Amino acid sequence: MGTEFQNRSQNGPLPRAGRSLIERIVGEGEVGGAGSGSETWGHGDPLRRFSPIDLRPLSVVRRASVQDYRDIVDRTATAFGVWRMVPAPKRGEIVRQIGTVLRWHKRDLAEVVCREVGKTRVEAEGEVQEMIDMADFAVGLSRMLYGVTLPSERSGHRIYEQWHPLGPVGVITAFNFPLAVWAWNAFVALVCGDTVIWKPSSKAALSAVAVMKLIWPVLKRNDLPDGLLNLVVGSGPSIGEAMIHDRRIPLVSATGSVRMGRQVAAAVGNRLGRTILELGGNNAVIVTPSADLDLAVRAVAFGAIGTAGQRCTTIRRVLVHADSFDDFSASLARSYQQLRIGNPLEDGVHMGPLIDAEAVNAMQAALQQLKDQGGSIMYGGQVLSGGIFDSGTYVTPCIAEARAEMPIVREETFAPILYLIRFRTMEEAVAALKAVPQGLSSAIFTNHLLEAEAFLSAGGSDCGIANVNTGTSGAEIGGAFGGEKDSGGGREAGSDAWKAYMRRQTVTINWSRKLPLAQGIEFNVD
Ligand code: UN1
Repeated sequence: MGTEFQNRSQNGPLPRAGRSLIERIVGEGEVGGAGSGSETWGHGDPLRRFSPIDLRPLSVVRRASVQDYRDIVDRTATAFGVWRMVPAPKRGEIVRQIGTVLRWHKRDLAEVVCREVGKTRVEAEGEVQEMIDMADFAVGLSRMLYGVTLPSERSGHRIYEQWHPLGPVGVITAFNFPLAVWAWNAFVALVCGDTVIWKPSSKAALSAVAVMKLIWPVLKRNDLPDGLLNLVVGSGPSIGEAMIHDRRIPLVSATGSVRMGRQVAAAVGNRLGRTILELGGNNAVIVTPSADLDLAVRAVAFGAIGTAGQRCTTIRRVLVHADSFDDFSASLARSYQQLRIGNPLEDGVHMGPLIDAEAVNAMQAALQQLKDQGGSIMYGGQVLSGGIFDSGTYVTPCIAEARAEMPIVREETFAPILYLIRFRTMEEAVAALKAVPQGLSSAIFTNHLLEAEAFLSAGGSDCGIANVNTGTSGAEIGGAFGGEKDSGGGREAGSDAWKAYMRRQTVTINWSRKLPLAQGIEFNVD
């Protein structure tokens, strides 16, 4: 334990699951939503999970009580004391083993995600792949937590920076990426020497329990203490509130609505803690006259329809040059017509259900507002019925014509509604792109160097992510992920996002046997 920590991976692989993961979890009937390394428990209310695919019950997850949460924070604080002393590359070795388990169970885990949140099987597998990629990245990172050496102004002195573990990290995730966003945070936090307390969305609690049940045995096999990776399923008003006010949690990384983000920022900021906030997106794509329209149509279709329009990186607005507007919209409508909407477990289905009836109602309300504000529906937007569609959670994705200044266009409706907006000049397009409160992701389709560079310049896109000739969703984990303005702030996943998960220490070492002071100050006492 501690610095004596042993690498047990030579003992051979972990056993594979016999029955499918979903059977094993659902088979248990009720599962606890609280845990810190072995068993799950929960003293809160039961949370009944239904699949948005057909509204059939999935299982019951017992929420954590506030006392359960407190017990877990005690455990994680103790575990942090041990984990922070484990050399970083050995922490990376644990994440490597976690990545291996995820590889073995990619299909199983994807099936849980598919059933619980309704994303298609290929997208759910993509989500698990994103976790695997993140594990690989974090393993490498565990040997690259570099600090710089700086030139001192004093002779015989050396200055350098080192990075120490920060503490237990609170991770709050949303239903739409129930696992990958946790992995962005958790795997980086682990190699940085932090422990993790995870409050998943109640709409994706089962996926969270499933992945914890797969990963905890890795920690056990390596004789690590409980408290490294913790789960607390619970509501925002109870568990979320406790977490954001908890001084033992120096960093809260939260994904969700702008309203939630403001609450988290206020509470954590008030105690001078740190936050990483991944909030709403209202991502626009500019299609210029020089664009490859075929490429743009394919990218927009995936970006607008993928995950049924429920990604924070979903394309919500397309700014199309007036001269190509008709061609573009006709070609996009043709590709929408070819879509297969249905049971996301079936091969070849492009779009499954929305997460619940509430999301369908929000979509319908947004479409009504669009019409009231002078916009028009060019394609889709209906609620489907008959057979499996009687669940009331399936819609046809919508293409609408709108103007940049309409209030509804400034809002993020978490549904597959795409607003097409005409522009005449590049300046007009960039201004429209920026005329929303959010600033997460953006893209331009152009074969014109000057247009691409103007879009990427300081006066161009104001988003955390800016792409050329590829859509806004489906970012790779190697880049830092996050946005500006109402999209939150802070970065997760790749690049140097790890720095937020550590504390920087500036060290000055005097090896001169004299005591020269900085800034040339003389201070002579006998
Ligand atoms: C989210 O929707 O919260 O870039 C995350 C993407 C995914 C992650 C989306 N890699 O679309």
